[in-house]
Amino acid sequence: MQKENITLTMIKPGAVKKNHIGPILGIINENGFIIKAMKLTQLTVEQAKKFYAVHQGKPFFNDLITFMSSGPIVAAVLQKENAVKEFRDLIGATDPDNAKDGTIRKLFAESLSKNAIHGSDSNENAEIESSFFFSQLEQF
Ligand code: CMP
Repeated sequence: MQKENITLTMIKPGAVKKNHIGPILGIINENGFIIKAMKLTQLTVEQAKKFYAVHQGKPFFNDLITFMSSGPIVAAVLQKENAVKEFRDLIGATDPDNAKDGTIRKLFAESLSKNAIHGSDSNENAEIESSFFFSQLEQF
């Protein structure tokens, strides 16, 4: 897989709890993304701290770690041409109050901290984040 064509997503605990996995995956597929790897899992506190290490020290860090380790998530590697940008357009702004109509966060986010879904912010991070959840063998 060419690295500019993949991104890593997580459907976050709030959206999983509210039974939004199916509708969110439907939107992802309808918009031309192919699911290359996927798992339902739960982050430990330590894993969440590692995944979000870039945010360590920020005022929202502890709440972010507590939330992201609070329940099951769906992690998936998605493939599409120009995947990172295309997916960030599809999920909408980090703060759902600023997300455009029709975006996944506009439809499913509860708040800035419970914003339903994650998308990688660069090709480099897409690779790092995909490796965090999936070994090379699991991606096909
Ligand atoms: P995401 O970009 O997926 O990963 C980091 C998360 O931190 C972000 O989504 C938000 O859900 C959360 N967060 C909470 N507070 C803030 C804030 N003030 N600025 C940015 N992100 C925040």
